[in-house]
Amino acid sequence: MSKIVRFSISLERDLLKKFQRFCREERFATRSEAIRQLIHDFLARRAWVEDAEDVAGTLTLVYDHHRSQLRDQLMKLQHDHTDLIVSTLHAHLTAHLCLEVIILRGPAKQLREIAARLRGLKGVHKGELVIAAVPQESPA
Ligand code: NI
Repeated sequence: MSKIVRFSISLERDLLKKFQRFCREERFATRSEAIRQLIHDFLARRAWVEDAEDVAGTLTLVYDHHRSQLRDQLMKLQHDHTDLIVSTLHAHLTAHLCLEVIILRGPAKQLREIAARLRGLKGVHKGELVIAAVPQESPA
């Protein structure tokens, strides 16, 4: 087992309260144990497909459509990557919020990159990439 190191993190009080409730409900012995498992699970999920593999997935975005440049940036990024983006579903959630589900297909590394760029745009509240499948051609 490798050496244990300590580091500190900063987060909003509300988020910390939610995290503490999560730790109690899931009966983690310590917050460190909870963080360790969460990081481990996240990295394991991310690593299950190789970068070069052809995969299919969805990117779910929730964003504020009043942000002036955001819609243009989202549109441009999607039009610039028609090789990766299969389809987009848009729902107007409230007067301010939009939900978009983008279906992607291509090399896993490229899907992760375009997902990171889309969810990194200012005004995007949530962005989650799910790599759903590794389509395999059956031999002819
Ligand atoms: Ni909308």
